[in-house]
Amino acid sequence: MSLSPDFLDELRARTTLSGLIGRSVKLTRAGREWKACCPFHKEKTPSFTINDEKGFYHCFGCGAHGDAIRFLTEARGLPFMDAVKELADKAGLDVPAPDPRSQQRADRASGLHDLMEAASRWFQEQLSGIDGSEARNYLERRGITDAARRRFSFGFAPDSRTKLKTALRHFELEKLVEGGLVIVPEGGGRDPYDRFRGRLMIPIRDQRGRVIAFGGRIIGEGEPKYLNSPETPLFDKGRTLFNIDLAGPASRDARRLVVVEGYMDVIALHQAGIGEAVAPLGTALTEGQLERLWRLVPSPILCFDGDAAGQKAALRAALRALPHVGPDRSLGFVTMPPGQDPDDLLRSSGRAALDALLETPEPLVDRLWHHESSAEPLSTPEQRAGLRRRLLDHASAIADPDVREQYRDELLRRFSDLTRPKPQTQWNRNAPRGGRPFPPPRQASASAKAVWSGGLGSHWTRAVLQGLIRFPGVVSAHSEAIAALPLAGRAATRLRDAMLSAAMLHGELDQEQLNTILAGAGASALEELRLKQSLAFSFTRRDADPERASRDLVLVIETLAARPGLDAALEAATIRLKEEGDEAAFQEQQRLRAARDDADRQLAALMEGDVG
Ligand code: CTP
Ligand code: MN
Repeated sequence: MSLSPDFLDELRARTTLSGLIGRSVKLTRAGREWKACCPFHKEKTPSFTINDEKGFYHCFGCGAHGDAIRFLTEARGLPFMDAVKELADKAGLDVPAPDPRSQQRADRASGLHDLMEAASRWFQEQLSGIDGSEARNYLERRGITDAARRRFSFGFAPDSRTKLKTALRHFELEKLVEGGLVIVPEGGGRDPYDRFRGRLMIPIRDQRGRVIAFGGRIIGEGEPKYLNSPETPLFDKGRTLFNIDLAGPASRDARRLVVVEGYMDVIALHQAGIGEAVAPLGTALTEGQLERLWRLVPSPILCFDGDAAGQKAALRAALRALPHVGPDRSLGFVTMPPGQDPDDLLRSSGRAALDALLETPEPLVDRLWHHESSAEPLSTPEQRAGLRRRLLDHASAIADPDVREQYRDELLRRFSDLTRPKPQTQWNRNAPRGGRPFPPPRQASASAKAVWSGGLGSHWTRAVLQGLIRFPGVVSAHSEAIAALPLAGRAATRLRDAMLSAAMLHGELDQEQLNTILAGAGASALEELRLKQSLAFSFTRRDADPERASRDLVLVIETLAARPGLDAALEAATIRLKEEGDEAAFQEQQRLRAARDDADRQLAALMEGDVG
């Protein structure tokens, strides 16, 4: 819906900005203007000014700036049209309806609001009544407090096809159907019946706190777990975020906004004192939802599962956001520990654990980089060119020219750091000044070849672990590769997993966190790690240049992590070659074999002599 500039001017002219803002913010006169502590950022001395004549506010502290409409969209998080309507109401103006269809839609919607409110009240009564005892027990089992139960207006739909329909018979049946509460069976014949039966009811509210839909959860186990309202004139799933009405204002105070996957996560966060959480409704984030989030904070934090599906969803969100990012519009990413959603994490580890994760979200650029740089091996020029191309493609998806340029520079810088040949790893050059002589050029050595026999050999395992203990900071940045390493032995695997979980919780590991982990690993495991033979790398040597040693460590880890995939592909290609025997299959097999040999040579070159 578009409004004429004349109408908007009239609206601004009839609105006294200080009156509007003064309803929620304490103002003091300052000459012809008003002053206040800025509602957009925390401050003790006022730097926020309002000029009624010009109809603008401006904050000298944070740069917030705008007119009455902007104030309502920014400070209260209202959609543009709702802000206009609210101002028009106050000014006694009618918002011109540009076409009769949208007027009709508005009329239909207004009746539905009453219906949804009535339904919500009825569901709440059922939860308190005799029918609701099982649902009440369920809430109690899940630790949902009475306060949260009231705040989120939990209700219960009894297991009946007619009770709601009957209770709301003062509404037209057609309305009940339109609101998604009653279903008309296809082909007629049978009577219309209640959609929600035997479910815990969670109202979904719009930005202004009006009930527009319901999510119905089965009590306990069963399928489908959730049954939601269909799309209705009130409910556009792709533009709605669960809890947006409460999270909007809360995000102002907290200066952050957390996006989780489920209703129950939002409610668990609320109970833990984190009110600034929303959830999409079981689908991937849409652009409409992103826009809504950005109206509230510059960089909403998206929480995703640690499993493959969650990580895929994170990437999808990143790519969807990319065209729209700006200097003040981005995303942060938080990965939950494997198998836990935020609700589980709060239950198992408490608020501090979740706070720790939320404190250091992964920036959008890192998310893209980590995904792409670990997507494929980088042993051939083609693979490296492929990575470079994908990075540039991502950068060019960004519409904002300044941000685009920054992404391009940053991604290319990381690319060249990753792929630039490292002098000390080349075997056909002279030693660097002052360094020790390089190992002579050689074929993949016996020990590099012995890396694999279904997994990493124990020498390799020890070398990698020794490296990680010396450079714990590497763990968080390369967790995927580290997780993929098929280490030898239970103790080694446990130690590695402990480091990964700690890095997941705390981000970059420091010495103190590492000490805690090592203490938990047990003395004999550590003794073995220290005393038994390992391989000689820069990172297993005490006197090596730390920068080089940590770089070598990363290279070894990434190369090792890529090996199982490479082996499997080579095996498949070899079988194909035997079965089909054509030129293409042969080429493919040769290519993979060369890549594998390349990886082995890379490892051999990093090794400083054999088993030591
Ligand atoms: N969802 C849905 N329909 C389903 C399953 C899920 O609409 N059959 C949506 C709901 O919005 C749900 C979200 O996807 O909140 C996330 O699903 P899930 O993590 O399974 O739900 P939780 O909110 O964690 O619910 P619970 O803790 O009760 O299992
Ligand atoms: Mn859950």
